[in-house]
Amino acid sequence: MTRRPVQGRAAPDRAPAGGPLGEPALFSGGVLRNQRVAAGLYELLLAVPDAGDPPRPGQFVSLVLESGVAQPEFEGLEGPLLRRPFSVAGFVQARGRRRLKLLYASVGRITRRMAALVPGANIGLLGPLGTPFPLEVPEPILLVGGGRGIAPLLYLGETLACRGRAFALVYGARRGAEMLPAGQLPGGSIWLATEDGARGRRGTVLDVLDGLRLEAPTVMACGPHGMLASVAGWSAARGAACWVSVEAVFGCGTGLCGGCAIPAAGKPPDFLWACRQGPVLPAESVDWERWNASDL
Ligand SMILES: Cc1cc2nc3c(=O)[nH]c(=O)nc-3n(C[C@H](O)[C@H](O)[C@H](O)COP(=O)(O)OP(=O)(O)OC[C@H]3O[C@@H](n4cnc5c(N)ncnc54)[C@H](O)[C@@H]3O)c2cc1C
Ligand code: FES
Repeated sequence: MTRRPVQGRAAPDRAPAGGPLGEPALFSGGVLRNQRVAAGLYELLLAVPDAGDPPRPGQFVSLVLESGVAQPEFEGLEGPLLRRPFSVAGFVQARGRRRLKLLYASVGRITRRMAALVPGANIGLLGPLGTPFPLEVPEPILLVGGGRGIAPLLYLGETLACRGRAFALVYGARRGAEMLPAGQLPGGSIWLATEDGARGRRGTVLDVLDGLRLEAPTVMACGPHGMLASVAGWSAARGAACWVSVEAVFGCGTGLCGGCAIPAAGKPPDFLWACRQGPVLPAESVDWERWNASDL
């Protein structure tokens, strides 16, 4: 297997170790397990090469299906066009073995094909990419996840738990059937919200937050950008520092195409590149009003 370092990425806060999964590199992941964990939601467990530093919570990998996995509408196109970003949802290393976990919703052309991956298949990965969630922050930390936005919070929660940090989780989805089982969620204090009322409180994560009796100086959230805008406003009103992991449609995922631009706060109007300056951003750096009003 050859690994090619990617140029032009932000340097980590210590010397790069090179290769999976410290400094960004191209590598291949072997499918060990690919299973449905909720309606439309799948967990993919990959064996990855044993090298480099672990990925940091909030970072993502850019994935391409390799030959042998049917992707007929793209025949003849080059690989990078087929790449899709997925947050690191889990990472373990033991006895020289490394396992990378992704949690994905089957929503379109590539993710539908991912759902058909079987053990033994290989996929191409580029990563880890993007900014991580900060870990040295005041506690308790409130994690807020909506839908598939729970993915990076699983790894973040595991990491916080390993460090003995105090945190709680608010997790929402449209339907109870689309939610991960309780046993797969990190932390002891968990509040759920579903729009169909099947699990937890009927409503949204905002309804839970509004009724919460927890003073949290730090909030970290991932989900649809409407939800993130509300969580950002809720946090600002309470003087809590808020970090959000944003989703935009990525082209290159490496800061080259500008396809992931989201409106930045401040004047004159500017943009942030979600793939390079994010996906984890301080909530106040985003112009939520302009983003909500735009087609981006
Ligand atoms: C930093 C980052 C991390 C992500 N992490 C996860 C994750 O952990 N789990 C997960 O399930 N998904 C994640 N996503 C979203 C995931 O990349 C898209 O769902 C995926 O690209 C869809 O590919 P597709 O070919 O199946 O869909 P397509 O056929 O390309 O599109 C299907 C639908 O999804 C929309 N879509 C396509 N790409 C994106 C995108 N990047 N963001 C939002 N909507 C999109 C399209 O507009 C369309 O409505 C992440 C996105 C980003 C930017
Ligand atoms: S996706 Fe190309 S610059 Fe961000």
